[in-house]
Amino acid sequence: MRVLMLGGGGRENALCWKLAQSPLLTKLWRSANGASLPEGVASAAVNPLDPKAVEAFARAEKLDLIVIGPEAPLEAGVSDRLTAAGFRVFGPSRAAAQLEISKSFTKEVCDACGAPTARWRRFEALDPALDYVRAEGAPIVVKADGLAAGKGVTVAATLDEAEEALRHIFGGGFGKPEVVVEQVLTGEEASLFALVDGETAVPLAGAQDHKRAYDGDQGPNTGGMGAYSPAPVLDEAVTERAMARIIRPIAREMARRGTPYRGVIFAGLMIEAGEPSLIEINARFGDPECQALMPRLESDLLPALLAVAEGRLSEISLSWSPETCLAVVMAAKGYPGDYVRSSEIRGVGRAEASGALVFLAGAKREEARLIAEGGRVLSVVASGATAAEAQKRAYAAVDLIDWPEGFHRRDIGARAVARGA
Ligand code: AMP
Ligand code: GLY
Repeated sequence: MRVLMLGGGGRENALCWKLAQSPLLTKLWRSANGASLPEGVASAAVNPLDPKAVEAFARAEKLDLIVIGPEAPLEAGVSDRLTAAGFRVFGPSRAAAQLEISKSFTKEVCDACGAPTARWRRFEALDPALDYVRAEGAPIVVKADGLAAGKGVTVAATLDEAEEALRHIFGGGFGKPEVVVEQVLTGEEASLFALVDGETAVPLAGAQDHKRAYDGDQGPNTGGMGAYSPAPVLDEAVTERAMARIIRPIAREMARRGTPYRGVIFAGLMIEAGEPSLIEINARFGDPECQALMPRLESDLLPALLAVAEGRLSEISLSWSPETCLAVVMAAKGYPGDYVRSSEIRGVGRAEASGALVFLAGAKREEARLIAEGGRVLSVVASGATAAEAQKRAYAAVDLIDWPEGFHRRDIGARAVARGA
């Protein structure tokens, strides 16, 4: 099979690493943007945000499957165009990707199908929103409605904070002035990944990430500084409850609306006393969650992605390693703000030789040198029978990497380690 991966980050390189192991694969391309390509993956000079260009590439190379990594091509309508042209695509239509793009859309879908989520209201003007938060009181959550690169959410501990967040959004902070105000959920957060082919939903695995930049969950929010899978809080019973009450009802509701969802659902959950509630949905794999998921998947990924594209997911069953897999992100100093560029990273080969996997994200090979170009630059991934063992192996590999201009958290997986998972 001839497969194209769109997107050029650590998530896409982890997916490529896994797809490259498939005996069904004859050739794998990845779009040329972003990090250096993993070994054995060809470069596709195609802009992942240009549906017409991707279709032209698909025709020229007679592709059997196109896999969409990030959310931006979904919003650009790449899946719609390729599907209309008769290609098999892993990644939802623009209409189905509204589950990630619009927070109020997801809330409406939850209410329509009874999926548990925080009570909410949507506002298009500042004054009624202020009246509402004053009436509800703090703590309360204020969210910009739309893609805000993960920066549009304020969990306000005080009314002042909530009012400031509202004024910022209605002052034009995030483009469209629309907000969702919702109740604070309490419990433990974890992410559940599931494949959906429009009708059938199959759970993949759970993960937990670390969004703050520094140890002890301090510092600014980032795209994710590390992740591990499985998440101890997402045991079999909680996973089945989340599938039965959240993922499957949402998939049925999307199909009922005439916009069936085909792809991966990344459900951000809050779990309290074994009861999951939905915080948000992403229409893609997480980054770096994906880097911690792929090494645990024992089955071939390619037939599963193809089954999603063809609506045959009921034929697929996947097997997962019970081991814990842990990904530590190494970022350029300054990230998520303005960061150091073009510094050299040494020792990645040593880290790989120690048994860890290294997935490049914002890094390029220039002959024998590896040069950091982005904010999140690479992730170092290792597995173990326990979270403690995975953590120890991952950090032993991180310590073999010599990169003075980079930084990383030292406490990825701490919660699972403390539980003795
Ligand atoms: P979101 O972009 O919706 O995932 O929000 C980002 C983060 O804000 C989540 O990962 C949670 O930590 C937090 N958050 C969002 N909504 C809520 C809520 N209703 N209650 C508590 N925390 C929330
Ligand atoms: N790591 C969180 C995300 O990919 O959205």
